This record gives sequence, structure tokens and C-alpha cells, in this order.
Amino acid sequence: MNLPNLKDAKVRTKCKTRIIRDDYKVPDSMKNIGKGKKYYLKTYGCQMNVHDSENISAILEDMGFTKSDTMEDADIILLNTCAIRENAHNKMFGFLGRVKHLKESRKDIICGICGCMAQEESVVEELRGKYKCVDIIFGTHNIHKLPNILEESLKNQKQEVEVYSIEGNVYENIPVKRDSKVKAWVNIMYGCDKFCTYCIVPYTRGKQRSRMPEDIINEVKELVESGYKEVTLLGQNVNAYGKDLGIDYTMGDLLEDTAKTKIDRIRFVTSHPWDFDDKMIDVIAKYDNIMPYIHLPLQSGSDRILKLMGRRYTKEKYLELFNKLKKKIPNCAITTDIIVAFPGETEEDFQDTLDVVNTCKYDSAFTFIYSPRIGTPGALMENKLSEKEKNERLYKLNEVVNKYANEANRKYLGKVVPVLLEGESEKKGRLMGYTDTMKLVNVEADYKYLGKVVNVKITAVKTWSMDGKIV
Ligand code: 5AD
Ligand code: SF4
Repeated sequence: MNLPNLKDAKVRTKCKTRIIRDDYKVPDSMKNIGKGKKYYLKTYGCQMNVHDSENISAILEDMGFTKSDTMEDADIILLNTCAIRENAHNKMFGFLGRVKHLKESRKDIICGICGCMAQEESVVEELRGKYKCVDIIFGTHNIHKLPNILEESLKNQKQEVEVYSIEGNVYENIPVKRDSKVKAWVNIMYGCDKFCTYCIVPYTRGKQRSRMPEDIINEVKELVESGYKEVTLLGQNVNAYGKDLGIDYTMGDLLEDTAKTKIDRIRFVTSHPWDFDDKMIDVIAKYDNIMPYIHLPLQSGSDRILKLMGRRYTKEKYLELFNKLKKKIPNCAITTDIIVAFPGETEEDFQDTLDVVNTCKYDSAFTFIYSPRIGTPGALMENKLSEKEKNERLYKLNEVVNKYANEANRKYLGKVVPVLLEGESEKKGRLMGYTDTMKLVNVEADYKYLGKVVNVKITAVKTWSMDGKIV
């Protein structure tokens, strides 16, 4: 048994990251354990978690399990959790209620909790005491050890907890079963060293560890050869890519080398304004296959709150970068993340945030009410706002955000834009995909266009999506 530990999770030493290439192996005794059995895997949270789940699926399939779309049919049920806000907590306990009910009639079902919440000391304590329906708990650092963890649990017939609060390594050669045949997630780095005071990620995901450039580029080349049209380079703070490698190679270099693989479309998430350098901007502007779409989290428009958040930029610096991006990258769409009601946020601070939104007129924004996370500095700060005030600020912010999102979309009406058709639309008989600027479009198109970048004329626009037809 290995339990998470908050103190250890904070540690950052100067030790070099280890790149481990041979740590994944399914023990012989586990190779057919899932034959004739099914797995159900539910994922919450960010793209990093979604991609981790693609690894987990592949590992389960290596043990013979096949995928089930419903929990009721499954022999093993896994929940890949997110810890970023309190509501994720509630979702997990709701999910466990359903599992408990299922296990009343089928005791042999195995239930596992993994992901960021499994890295939280307080969560694991709660699960260990009260939730006997949970058989295995493992964290973000040892996904590739799932076969061994499962083996131990089956052998000992007791709850198996294997969570490590370490700075972390880079594991190569973990299998992946990608959800899409058209677009792929590619990890370029893990963890984060920024320690923004509201954020749990540096504690749940370890220190910043970049993958080696050649490992990333080889993965992209293989994806191109397999017919993939789009890659999204993933990391908590991709702009800082390479800084921990001790070589003279930055995110700008990586973007350029990725562009040279000739993959049709390159995206990257997520950016921290602090590390966005000129080389990166120039490379994005230079290559047509790097999409003109940037997610640039603002978090707050108030210098005072930004300082309390530990964000290392001011409103002025943010706007300077924003304007530079708009000027140098033609047609660039920019979206953002904003937190309201951070401890100590006054009406004036909130107005500063609205002011930046009114200046930037974002294409879209993800907006959140601040949620205290145990162990982060923010959780110790006093918050005097009532729930009503917090909700009112979110509501006001959303009104402004939605107005600009709608305006940005309306500019597309009647235009012809490139769309990568990646799947079936929720609207029957149509396909869906995204423009280069990351706008969702439902397209009247024959299935033969699936997986292709096509020119689409936009015929109708709404706040969050558009309709169009192939021209
Ligand atoms: N409370 C509310 N929102 C948060 N985010 C991160 N931590 C918190 C928190 N404690 C938001 C930030 C981040 C996005 C992924 O989630 O805006 O950019
Ligand atoms: Fe969290 Fe800040 Fe790191 Fe983003 S940069 S993952 S918000 S600590």
C-alpha cells in the first residue's frame, strides 16, 4: 500500500527527470484475465485526463478486456477523476453510489478510482474508511502499473491503494488506444511548477517534466503515417516546454519541428501568458498547419488578484501579449479561462476582469467560481463573499462572454472556412468538425468526407456552434 502525501507532493528538487522506457509489462498471469469480460471507463476533467484514459483503455485491452458503453454490463468499472473544483468531488461520490448498488447483486465487479482525486490525501482517507465498494485506487504517476495493482487486489481480496506523491518520471512506450482516427492527443510534458495559489495540479501531477523532442516528433510522424490529420500537443503549461531539459530547445522549436512533419493541423493546450515568447508567436504565424487558435487563460483582470493568485503577469502585460498575438497571427481566435470570486476579490477587481473581457472580446471563455482546494495557499485565504454574490458575478461575466462569443461567430455567416470533419453530429444525418479557429460546425456532408479537411459555407450561427454545407 502507498498513500498520497500532501507534503511530499509539494517537493521540487533539482534532480533530473528519469526517462523510463521499459517499465510497462503485463505479467503472464494477467494476460488473459479479462477474456470474455468488459470494462467501463468514465473520465472527468481536462484533455490530459482524456488522454490518460486512452492509455488505461489500451492497458485493459492488453489484459483481454473489451470496452463497454454501459456500467451495468461491465466486470471492471474505472473512474478517472478530476480534482480541479469541488463539483468533481460530488460527481465521484454520486458515481460510487451507483457502483455500490450494482455490487449488491454482483459482488465480483471490480471498481477502481484513479486520476487527480486519487492523488489527494483527504479523498483517499475518505474512500478507505467508508467506501468498501472501491477495490483499487491508483494515481497519475503509475497508470502503467494497473496490471500489477489489479493482480495484487485479486490475490489479497482487499482494497489496494497505490498512489505516489512524487515529482514524477517520464514513461515512454505506454500503449494507447486512441478514441479518434482523425485527431490525436500527444503529451509533450507532464506536471507543473507554477503553483498558482488556487490550483491543485502541481500537487496531483508532479513537477514539470518535458518529453524528449525526438520522442514527440517520432510519435507525430507515426500518426501522420497512420492517416491522422490533427495533433494537439498537451501539457499543463506547454509554453514552458523544454525549460527543464537543460538543452537549448523551446516550445517554438518543437512547434516548428512538428509543423515540418506536414501533419495537416497542429494545436496546443494550455498556454500560460508568462512563457509565451516571440519565437513561438513567429512560428505560429509562419506555418499554415499550426492553427490560428490560442487558449490564453486570463484568470483575473485585476493586478491585485493576479498577484494573490501568483500568476506573474499584470493586466497590462496580458493585454500587450494579447495585442501582439492578434497583430502577428492573422485571423487568430483567442479563448480564455476566468475565475471569479477568488478570496478578497472586490467589486472593483471584478470590474477589472469585465474590462479585460470587454477589451479582448474573446471568441469564447470558460468561466468558474473559485473553489478552494485543500493544501493550496488559496484555501487558507479568507473569502467574504456570499454564495449569492459569487453566482451573481459568474452570471454577469457569462452574459458579457456570451455576447462576444456570439458576435465572433456571427462574423462567419456566409463565409467559406476549412473544417476537419471528425465525426457524426448530434444532429442526425450530419457530420461535425472544427474550423481552424476551433469553431464547432455541423455540416451537411456525405460520410465519404469523414476525416477530411473540407471547405464549408457557414449558413447559420449560434453562440456555441454553427451550421454549414460543403462547397
Ligand atoms: N477554482 C476554480 N477554477 C479553477 N481552475 C483551476 N483551479 C481552480 C479552482 N480552484 C480553473 C482555471 C484553469 C482551469 C483549467 O480551471 O481557470 O485555467
Ligand atoms: Fe495550475 Fe497555474 Fe500550473 Fe495552470 S499554470 S496547471 S493554473 S498551477
